[in-house]
Amino acid sequence: MERMFGVKNTSLEHLLIPVKILVKNSLQRVVIFGDMGKAEVDGSNEYNDFQHASLNTTKQLIRDLNNIDLIFLIGDICYANGYLSQWDQFTAQVEPIASAVPFMVASGNHERDWPGSGSFYEDKDSGGECGVVAETMFYVPTENRAKFWYSTDYGMFRFCVADTEHDWREGTEQYEFIEHCLASVDRQKQPWLIFLAHRVLGYSSATFYADTGSFGEPMGRESLQKLWQKYKVDIAIYGHAHHYERTCPVYQNICTNKEKQHYTGPMNGTIHVVAGGGGAALAEFAALNVTWSFFKDYDFGFVKLTPIIRIQEEQ
Ligand SMILES: [Fe+2]
Repeated sequence: MERMFGVKNTSLEHLLIPVKILVKNSLQRVVIFGDMGKAEVDGSNEYNDFQHASLNTTKQLIRDLNNIDLIFLIGDICYANGYLSQWDQFTAQVEPIASAVPFMVASGNHERDWPGSGSFYEDKDSGGECGVVAETMFYVPTENRAKFWYSTDYGMFRFCVADTEHDWREGTEQYEFIEHCLASVDRQKQPWLIFLAHRVLGYSSATFYADTGSFGEPMGRESLQKLWQKYKVDIAIYGHAHHYERTCPVYQNICTNKEKQHYTGPMNGTIHVVAGGGGAALAEFAALNVTWSFFKDYDFGFVKLTPIIRIQEEQ
């Protein structure tokens, strides 16, 4: 159920002492996934009855709690769609987890979207919540919680968390935030730069994205890929498509590195991961294979990032 990848060989000779302290005292294990939902064990009182696998995710996270330092649930948190009782059910379900480790969230269509409410998409997926419940229920370190984008550093990671339900395109306030978040990281302190968002702004071969011909959210890559490339984002992780997929390091639809498992040195592109298998019913992949897609898994699960720095011995 858990996936671990991402050993980054970072040459930090000039930081020998701090790095040694980091390795000794600081190991960060970060779990990331989207589209969880909630369910009753006995199947009773279900409003949105397609998230039974969320019980398995919950169980697995509780079992592994001693090996988790931080969790991101990146949107489509519980599919309450306007029913507070569903939020109560969700918070009760994840209480053993959320009371033990930081439980960070991002905004998805099922938290925010409603016609005429200022959401980027005009669908009715939030059931009229318009983000109010999510931004009240969970703390996120935003400047303005109605605009659900934020930056946070944890150990060797910087996370730039976008809000796909508000406009991200060039010239917008959010685009400015994303660029500032990526540009301001000190890679000697946070060598890992991670971009998180709910909808797939990068690459996805889910049927519903492939059918649009854009293999991702229309305008996503066009708007943001030059930022990911310029600031050397290591990994971008999304939800919304309910399964797992990982790309090669990629830029402008072309793999910049053929390695599939162990990367060393500059990748010259960003690895895009879809981790939307948190519990809501699975989404199909398109039948065709695209070159940038390295791994597809029609299954539930979550991503777990663990940074490791290999130190050169002092002479
Ligand atoms: Fe979604």
